[in-house]
Amino acid sequence: MREQRLTDEVVERLGNTADPRLREIMKVLVMHLHAFAREVRLTEAEWMTGIRFLTTTGHKSDDFRQEFILLSDTLGLSSLVDLLNHGSDDPVVTEPTIRGPFYVAGSPPRAFGESMVEYDDGGEAAVLRGQVRSNDGSAVPGAELDVWQNAATGFYAVQQPGVQPATNLRGKYRTDGEGRYEIRTVRPVPYPIPDDGPVGRLLSATGRQPWRAAHVHAIVSAAGYAPVTTHIFDRESEHLTSDAVFGVKESLLRDFVPGPDGVPVCEQDFVLQPE
Ligand code: BEZ
Ligand code: FE
Repeated sequence: MREQRLTDEVVERLGNTADPRLREIMKVLVMHLHAFAREVRLTEAEWMTGIRFLTTTGHKSDDFRQEFILLSDTLGLSSLVDLLNHGSDDPVVTEPTIRGPFYVAGSPPRAFGESMVEYDDGGEAAVLRGQVRSNDGSAVPGAELDVWQNAATGFYAVQQPGVQPATNLRGKYRTDGEGRYEIRTVRPVPYPIPDDGPVGRLLSATGRQPWRAAHVHAIVSAAGYAPVTTHIFDRESEHLTSDAVFGVKESLLRDFVPGPDGVPVCEQDFVLQPE
């Protein structure tokens, strides 16, 4: 009873919050936070461990590394917020998934079929191609595909300044008059999310692994349509069922099938929803 009265008092005091949305968020946050502490019967030592964990998470964050977002990612919160805000009820529309920390704005425009490989580290050549369509089936010419992926070493260019050219394995492609695009690249590989900080230690303490399944990121946009931030996953990749950040969706798995010249081709169509 006394425990519940304390919760009620905190919630009641938040009733003075002028902004109604902030009032709602803070009230529900306190209710769930208190319910959590009551349910696990949180000890003072455990509370202190939590405070230290969050402090270390803050210390590990800077302009280049956001350990709090990594925490959100690995707890599935980022994927949940993505679903809440971008999930479409239309099953033909391409499913979104999280953007992740390695997106860099201002990728170079690239021509139809151009290679985005600017640095050879032994990756397996691959081709990505397909069509961008509206959910009524019509082609979307002039759509933009802002694409980025990792190299054979597992690293994105932004993680290896001075090793990979800054624009390696990223580019902005446009669909042709029939809504088609084509990208020459290398096959993406699985990679571990940064796990040398508190989030990595939490993963290992909870028996989890830091690897992401192999994927290519794309933000697909066109005038008059809701943009979609998504991935193409290699269906043959490891870690599809244990992706560290819960980004894998069955509808985004694709095959890389050897083309006439032996180079694996991955066909992926993107379907957009009119705004
Ligand atoms: C990524 O896919 O690039 C990514 C997403 C979440 C955390 C780390 C990396
Ligand atoms: Fe990624």
